[in-house]
Amino acid sequence: MTAIIWDQRLETGWAELDEQHRTLIDTFNRLCALAGRAEPNPDELEGCLGFLLEFTLVHLELEQELMARHGYPFEAEHRRLHSVLVLDLERIVDAFRRGARDLDPVTLEYLDDWLQNHIRKEDFRLADFLRSAQPQTRGQQ
Ligand SMILES: [Fe+2]
Ligand SMILES: [Fe+2]
Repeated sequence: MTAIIWDQRLETGWAELDEQHRTLIDTFNRLCALAGRAEPNPDELEGCLGFLLEFTLVHLELEQELMARHGYPFEAEHRRLHSVLVLDLERIVDAFRRGARDLDPVTLEYLDDWLQNHIRKEDFRLADFLRSAQPQTRGQQ
């Protein structure tokens, strides 16, 4: 699994979201590096996955708060997609807590795909809406 390279295709233009997306992508890249070692350390993988889950929860909460505050018309669908990711991430973290030793490439591909596609489609749509809702405070909140 190769690292995700941050570029404009991932930049929504809403500063708070972009900053958190960068943290998510950095964490995913660290996970790939840990999983790609000749002998991956399960404790390090579990720690990194735990952080990914925690930070994902913080991030999704921010998006959901923005959606609710500004009356985002696609809130229900966006929230549903978030819920699916959280359930899957919880399952992955749980597997490690119950003794999993390794992260398989299919799981990494799933996370890679989810992050990139979700940001490019759903989060871009949200950022566009936020900008149109509050053109005078672009990128502020
Ligand atoms: Fe996001
Ligand atoms: Fe989102």
